[in-house]
Amino acid sequence: MLRVLVLVSGGGTNLQAILDKVENGTITDVEIVKVISNNYGAFALERAKKAGVEAEVVSPKDYPDREAFYAGLLQAVDAAKPDLIVLAGFLVVIPPEMIRAYAGKIINIHPSLIPSFCGTGYYGLKVHEAALKRGVKLTGATVHFVDEGTDTGPIILQKAVAVQKGDTPEVLQRRVMEEAEWEILPQAIQMIAHGQV
Ligand code: GAR
Repeated sequence: MLRVLVLVSGGGTNLQAILDKVENGTITDVEIVKVISNNYGAFALERAKKAGVEAEVVSPKDYPDREAFYAGLLQAVDAAKPDLIVLAGFLVVIPPEMIRAYAGKIINIHPSLIPSFCGTGYYGLKVHEAALKRGVKLTGATVHFVDEGTDTGPIILQKAVAVQKGDTPEVLQRRVMEEAEWEILPQAIQMIAHGQV
């Protein structure tokens, strides 16, 4: 069993896709051991509870400074004893000490075809706003390993999604989630659990 820890910040639709695929047997030999959110208001916490998965909040608001928050985050991560850490819409920059401690064991989903529309400042809806502004006809999503850069680690899977006439950032975001993110993130976890990456 691969012990998987999922880190979230918001709605948690990618977390839900993982939970559903563990539940229906598309993902095998994987246990979702814990979900950690940096945000008390994240709906992802409800999704975890509903699935019977332990959910914990590690919020910067509860720490005097960034360093203390990072120490608290690392402590919570260590306590879960994860084999794999999945960043599923986790909008906190991962501290270098955590990346070093879990080298090759952290993956992230990014809502574009890296190297387009990625790096500092490109997250969530901003990615889709930038894609529409540039007028690309194809966008998509990428699952990659996390290294010390922002969205620079080795790519595991990508899937392209067509931009359609009249798309708003919200409409495009939803299509990229449905057609790409919810498919390739669970698929990458299944591949890692079976030594295929
Ligand atoms: C997803 O679109 C994910 O790709 C993106 O945040 C959203 C989270 O949605 N992540 C990034 O932009 C990371 N740079 P969710 O909470 O519903 O899974």
